[in-house]
Amino acid sequence: MADKDKEEEKKIPLHVGIIMDGNGRWAKRRGLPRVMGHKAGMEALEEAIDNAHSLGVRYLSLYAFSTENWKRLPSEVAGLMGLFRLYLKNKIEKLHSRGARIRFVGKLEAFAPDIRNGVRFAEEYTRGNTEIDIIICVNYGGRQEIVDAVNCLLAAPPDGPVTEESLRSKMYAPDIPDPDLLIRTGGELRMSNFWLWEGAYSEYYFTDVYWPDFDRTELERALESYSGRERRYGTA
Ligand code: FPP
Repeated sequence: MADKDKEEEKKIPLHVGIIMDGNGRWAKRRGLPRVMGHKAGMEALEEAIDNAHSLGVRYLSLYAFSTENWKRLPSEVAGLMGLFRLYLKNKIEKLHSRGARIRFVGKLEAFAPDIRNGVRFAEEYTRGNTEIDIIICVNYGGRQEIVDAVNCLLAAPPDGPVTEESLRSKMYAPDIPDPDLLIRTGGELRMSNFWLWEGAYSEYYFTDVYWPDFDRTELERALESYSGRERRYGTA
């Protein structure tokens, strides 16, 4: 088969989700404080958005802060909050100029008022953009999301039994298609409470590469792996 035909045959996932792990170890290897690893991770995030867009990914979701991350040392949590603020202040204009729509998913009420305002502004400002959707999961936990959806249904019970569709409609971002490919960097082989409901039929890709080193070549590798897989959704 000619290279061009092979290229045309490639399946590009509509929605890619990423667990950005390994920032701490990336920093440690360089004798730097952990927060410097997160800072490098924030730059890698910016690059990943550009790369995903140019490779044809339509939805990119990123696990930036889990419900469990509050248990880290106060200095690290404070460092991450500082980066969140920096991100909202410095990176939204560039995203907007590239036609990206940004959304934040998770229990946002836990964040300081200035962060919540920044989030609201970024979401409103980029709402009309259609090139790529960026979903940043912050204070997100998959189990919590399911519990919240159940409580929503209990608050206004549907006529008849609960169905997959009715439960799904109460998830945090029901209009976003389920992830086709979930990537975890940093060498651990677990999902750590990310997209538990939505990832039921996702393909998984794990790499030892630390998040700050996850460049275009690494993303291409993940997409290549996805492209070669056959998805059967439980059928024979
Ligand atoms: C996991 O690495 C990473 C995090 C808990 C934070 C991810 C945050 C960013 C990439 C930047 C922040 C961006 C925004 C928009 C807030 P780890 O610390 O668990 O690494 P380790 O396993 O090597 O210790």
